[in-house]
Amino acid sequence: MAESRRHATVIGWGTYAPEHVVTNADLAATLDTSDEWIRSRTGIERRHVAAGEATAAMAIEAARAALRVADADPYQIGLVLVATMTPDYPSPSTACLVQHALGAAHAGAVDLNAGCSGFCYALALANAAILSGEHDMVLVIGADTMSSIVDKEDRATAVLFGDGAGALLLGATNGPAGVLATWLGADGSGAEMLIVPAGGSALPASAETVARRQHYLTMDGNQVFRFAVRMLPRAVEQVLGRVNLPLSEVDWIIPHQANRRIIEAAAQKLEIPSERFYLNLQEYGNTSAASIPLAIGDAVADGSLLPGQHVVLVGFGAGLTWGAVLLRWGTGLGTGRTTAYRYLWRWLLYRWAAVQTLGRRLAARVRGWRLRRPRPDDPSGGGQRH
Ligand code: UT7
Repeated sequence: MAESRRHATVIGWGTYAPEHVVTNADLAATLDTSDEWIRSRTGIERRHVAAGEATAAMAIEAARAALRVADADPYQIGLVLVATMTPDYPSPSTACLVQHALGAAHAGAVDLNAGCSGFCYALALANAAILSGEHDMVLVIGADTMSSIVDKEDRATAVLFGDGAGALLLGATNGPAGVLATWLGADGSGAEMLIVPAGGSALPASAETVARRQHYLTMDGNQVFRFAVRMLPRAVEQVLGRVNLPLSEVDWIIPHQANRRIIEAAAQKLEIPSERFYLNLQEYGNTSAASIPLAIGDAVADGSLLPGQHVVLVGFGAGLTWGAVLLRWGTGLGTGRTTAYRYLWRWLLYRWAAVQTLGRRLAARVRGWRLRRPRPDDPSGGGQRH
């Protein structure tokens, strides 16, 4: 592997989880379930649930933390990619909301939806954007507010999911590579295994779809479980095969955090101890596109993930989709020290973005009020004008 070519490497990371925690016991108080069932079938003990925060708000917090770690200037970001299946709005993209709040004035911004594989997809595309020379710095975020699409009355899904966000900031370097290989796959024949049936163009939201609870996520858990156990080991082997790195050289596998039993079955297939997989699903549940970057953040914070280590990120989920990214951790990380002028500059950009948003909202209100205002020359006495 030539080290002097242009590479993408991780220069910053950040996470965010809502403060509000819902334990298994809390769920058992309102649902026909138990702490014992949830723990033994999934490994999940609690999850963080957004209280009024939407996906962009969580993504912004994670992104700001990543910029802080990298001590980076938001003006240098060329592209903001947000992997999510729970955007704030069908349109505009959540990425645009994030781009504005960061003051990333020179960045393009776009969402992508690859379900729980979304973060691996976004990372692979960010890597390609840097290798092509198109961008020097790309912000990759996985963020999901699963509580907004989970049916709280459906015990089959309500106990599994949580909310959160995580971000990696990638930069171009000519030194040792950070991203060593990527591998993506999809099989749309499994589209209905994990689906939110209504709210899109196939079945637009209506009073009827809401009454039928079709705006909620439905999942064929058994089928998805089998798919995950089949594809997770294959994705790991495929991504390592791209650069002929033996599995024995991999320090950590950070998988999508869906179910402890999936990880144990995958470890068995790969013939490695399950301790080589980093797990934090007991704390967050399944946070979809956020689960891998949240696990990266925790692995760094608790000292598990160290500079120079090889780590495979592997995701699987709705689509069906799967993806894996081989990283060498820590090659692009700086001192972690923040320079005062950059800190101040970011603070100013964030405040200015907030002021602009407030200004636009006020202006829109004033325009609306002026349009609705009764006019003396209007015989109807006012009302809507077109
Ligand atoms: O992030 C995207 C990828 N998603 C995944 O990877 C999820 C993959 N699937 C899974 O993790 C598992 O299939 C589940 C955790 C969703 C379900 O576990 P399972 O061991 O496959 O359970 P099951 O669906 O086969 O259900 C076993 C029993 C059933 O009762 P009967 O029919 O045996 O009497 C269910 O009704 O458990 C029952 N059950 C529950 N019981 C208590 C299902 N959900 C619950 C619950 N509490 N929450």
